Amino acid sequence: RPEDLDARIRAAKEKLGKRAIILGHHYQREEVYRHADVHGDSLMLSREAAQQDAEFIVFCGVHFMAEVADIMSRPEQVSILPDLAAGCSMADMADIAKVEQAWRELGQVLDPDESVTPVTYINSAADLKAFCGEHGGIVCTSSNATKILKWAFDRREKVLFFPDQHLGRWTGYQLGVPLEDMAIWDPDQPMGGLSPEEIRKARVLLWKGFCSVHQMFQPGHIDRWRAANPDGFVISHPESSFEVCLKSDFVGSTDFIIRTIKGAEPGTKWLVGTELNLVSRLAEEVKPEGKQVEFMSPMVCMCSTMFRIDPEHLAWALENLVEGKVVNQIKVPADEAELARVALQRMLDLS
Ligand code: 13P
Ligand code: SF4
Repeated sequence: RPEDLDARIRAAKEKLGKRAIILGHHYQREEVYRHADVHGDSLMLSREAAQQDAEFIVFCGVHFMAEVADIMSRPEQVSILPDLAAGCSMADMADIAKVEQAWRELGQVLDPDESVTPVTYINSAADLKAFCGEHGGIVCTSSNATKILKWAFDRREKVLFFPDQHLGRWTGYQLGVPLEDMAIWDPDQPMGGLSPEEIRKARVLLWKGFCSVHQMFQPGHIDRWRAANPDGFVISHPESSFEVCLKSDFVGSTDFIIRTIKGAEPGTKWLVGTELNLVSRLAEEVKPEGKQVEFMSPMVCMCSTMFRIDPEHLAWALENLVEGKVVNQIKVPADEAELARVALQRMLDLS
């Protein structure tokens, strides 16, 4: 029964005391979210992971986040992901072999280590962050992407942005890069499907990845809602398509979305383009102020991998720790972690 699981989690947490800390991403389901000691978006949680003293960091989020916690914490600290199947489908769209191949192929046209900064969205595997560390690149999140891309352009003339084309395109556009100076790099095509001239012209090479949750939002959803709510505001996560971002009044990370709506005037109406668990929680929280928060799509757009972290898995992971057993530890190999830390630290120093 849900109440039993709740009680089991509370009891295990109490027994572990300060030895364990639970970090919870905003997309986590309510039954898990309420047990987290710290809530946040990817940027905030990676900062937290670097600052924790606890022996065990239990990450209620997805795989790449638990990897970041392992990389940024001290070697004796243990990062745990309650369900190992909680991955990120977008992160899986770029793998190290394909990125290294892209780098070699770019080398046929230009010297990538001279003229291209690799920028990986934090939603990526640790070996891609290590690649960026090694090649003068950096990590970004949706909260700091503009600052990070600006840093990248100050150093080299081009950026290879992976895995999310939408965040890369929106951020480039915010910095004044015309759409015609951005090109899609398709990792399944030789030379990314681009000609040498197209590669030479592009300032931003956008990996052909996307988030299966945010791609569900459509410009038509916004048009219909605006027709019925002409005085309302539209706010979207930058993993949404370019057209959706263009039609939105505000675009930003999960944390930005929460802060903007919580800080808005009472009685305002909002259409929100991001994950369903976050939107539902936010709608409940601001309802007492007469704020109306609606989800952008008529479909159920949930991050199904985040949803895999359920109270059963959380209780199981914590109870094992109480018994002295570590389950589902996420451990990044030391040499990879060292390079990945370089790219992550560059990001944290800038944001
Ligand atoms: P945030 O950086 O806003 O936490 O987003 C992470 C994510 O996975 C969004 O889909
Ligand atoms: Fe990955 Fe999309 Fe889920 Fe975010 S919402 S964790 S990008 S699949």
